[in-house]
Amino acid sequence: MKGLVLAGGTGSRMFPVTLGINKHLLPVFDKPMIFYPISVLMLAEIREIGIVCREIDRPAFERLLGDGSNLGLKIEYINQSRAAGISDGIKQASAFLSDSAFCLILGDNFFFGPGLTPRLKNAKASFDKATAFAYEVKNPSSFGVISYNQFNQVDSIEEKPTEPKSNTVATGLYMFNKNAIDHVKQLNTSARGELEITDLLNVYIDRNELSVEVLGRGYAWLDMGTSESLMEASVFIQSIEKRQGFKIACLEEIAFQKGWIPASMLESASVKYENTTYGEYLSKVLSDLK
Ligand code: DAU
Repeated sequence: MKGLVLAGGTGSRMFPVTLGINKHLLPVFDKPMIFYPISVLMLAEIREIGIVCREIDRPAFERLLGDGSNLGLKIEYINQSRAAGISDGIKQASAFLSDSAFCLILGDNFFFGPGLTPRLKNAKASFDKATAFAYEVKNPSSFGVISYNQFNQVDSIEEKPTEPKSNTVATGLYMFNKNAIDHVKQLNTSARGELEITDLLNVYIDRNELSVEVLGRGYAWLDMGTSESLMEASVFIQSIEKRQGFKIACLEEIAFQKGWIPASMLESASVKYENTTYGEYLSKVLSDLK
């Protein structure tokens, strides 16, 4: 299975974005936003990752992540010239995805919770159609809302409805079989001018091929796409890291624990990020080995 991280430009109202700075590179507490979704793919043991971004942002992502080899990954960059929708991102990635099933994660989504890794691995192993990971929220109108029929089966998903039919929403984490690439080519542009992810999910629902995996209340799912939610995610991450002494989404540590990179590469990363708390943490991981 391949992985796809969507980190394209958006109409986000965050100030740096108005200067052309890609929000996925902004720090969320102590590391760039994009580290969090990449860590989720790594924990699911997905090592071939495509990052969808604007051509203009590609050099910055490349400076940060390179071709992925420092993380035991293979990273490719896929150009999406404008934010024409999440399904459009999939369409642009069709050459990278070729005929492979894939896990899609939005570049501004944060997941944390016990058992997330086994949940992902299970979904990956038993997977042949599509899976949308869902979550219950107080403000469903800001998301893709799932509606259920009288038998409690998923009926449809509506993008940001004014009158939501439930509090369960699709998060930005999905798995798709290879047919998704053909399906997105058949989608029509929505009223807001995008190829919607909810329209793709509805294709799978109509074919009886979507499973919705609700992440319960023990999980944290945060969207980091606005100044306010970025701050909330930062505070959450800071509290957990301060309490436990472990870092969330330290990519080199994950790669090392999985046996994808040797200790010498952890060491070079600690030098690369020298004078940051991230670099200091890598040095500590190394010294704990001795
Ligand atoms: O966060 C979950 C929600 O994400 C879902 O519940 C919705 O169904 C889904 O449409 C999406 O809603 P958002 O309003 O959060 O989407 P947004 O436009 O903010 O984009 C989400 C991420 O995807 C963001 O990190 C940028 C990236 N993106 C988005 C678009 C539209 C791209 O890379 N390319 C795009 O064309």
